[in-house]
Amino acid sequence: MIYDFDKPIERLGTDCEKWDGLKKRFGSDGMLPLWVADMDFPSPEPVVRAIAERAAHPVFGYPMRGEDYYDSFIAWEKKRWNWDVKREWCDYVPGVVCGVAAALMGFTAPGDGVLIMPPVYHPFRNTIMAQGRQVVNAPMKLENGRFEIDFDALERGAREARALILCSPHNPTGRLFSRAELEHIAEICERNGVLVISDEIHSDLVLWGKKHVPFASVSDWAREHSITLMAPSKTFNIAGLVTSIYIVPNAKLRAQMQHIVGGWMHISGGNIFGLAAARAAYAEGEEWYQQMLRYIEGNVEYLDEQLARRVPQISLIRPEATYIPLLDCRKLCEGELGMTMDELQQFMLNTVKAAMNEGTLFGIEGTGFLRINLGTQRASLEEFVRRLEKGIERLPLRF
Ligand SMILES: Cc1ncc(COP(=O)(O)O)c(C=O)c1O
Repeated sequence: MIYDFDKPIERLGTDCEKWDGLKKRFGSDGMLPLWVADMDFPSPEPVVRAIAERAAHPVFGYPMRGEDYYDSFIAWEKKRWNWDVKREWCDYVPGVVCGVAAALMGFTAPGDGVLIMPPVYHPFRNTIMAQGRQVVNAPMKLENGRFEIDFDALERGAREARALILCSPHNPTGRLFSRAELEHIAEICERNGVLVISDEIHSDLVLWGKKHVPFASVSDWAREHSITLMAPSKTFNIAGLVTSIYIVPNAKLRAQMQHIVGGWMHISGGNIFGLAAARAAYAEGEEWYQQMLRYIEGNVEYLDEQLARRVPQISLIRPEATYIPLLDCRKLCEGELGMTMDELQQFMLNTVKAAMNEGTLFGIEGTGFLRINLGTQRASLEEFVRRLEKGIERLPLRF
């Protein structure tokens, strides 16, 4: 089946954070919503069908995940990344963030250091602080337009930390980590006794045929000292169905996770529609998935090329993975114009009329950057570039 990702779809009035939540988040609406990480595309047809079929039965009691649910995920991982996941390693968690929070709760204590690599997905910092743990930063370094891991900072940070929250692939830098990089991370963590909580929610969103390497697969040590979190939510655009998965090969760690998630948080029941959707997505979503990736790649190419030609003051940090890369706006923040982050955001919201996430949401390393969501129709990006070009012309200074 051929999917038409160019076809606009009305999301206003569908209880949708990205569109209906604009006013609440940014103070007004009517802007191009290029922020929160979901896509303006209908989910794969088999997913929509599976939900409709399940909805046709009018009892929505507690669900039970059958073996076919886990089999569909295990087969997907094998096919995608040649990762052999054992059935007993896997269990359900509603969201990846609450899985990260549960792991922090289970494997660290108040006052412990927890490493992150900013600029990085902001709820990591929030959950570390909310649980009374200490944030230990090992910031990524921007070198020749690409964010790189600072292994010296990571080694220094690891000496003070009990756990690392890894974001792989990395949101918002769009970095896909190589096996060598992940092995290096594993060596540092092993040397310092640091447990790895690996958020791999974006692992399927790898562009141009590159390969994701699951952290747990890089060494025996990594397998036995990691909690991996994955989900069909980004891959198939079903975040509203709150269905995710944790993979913990080490039996002792797994028992502790199960105790927290299932035992006292009591959040292991699951969502009956999420269950139907995830199973259908993994088993039958491949066609949609491949076409979606090609469309996102087209969006990346389009924006990169158009900015270089028409708005050279802003450039795209080309993502290797994810559809939510950074726009480098630092030229607007430097020199005589010298916009603050707030002024940059106000310019985007009021003049360009586009809503994006401030880079500083992900840490001070994001100063001068905005995160843009490319999971949308090409026409929205065309409109964005048009408005941006005009808006830049109206700025008081020439570049
Ligand atoms: C790296 C990362 N982890 C987790 C999430 C959210 O996961 P969930 O909604 O399952 O908690 C996101 C959403 O953008 C993300 O980018």
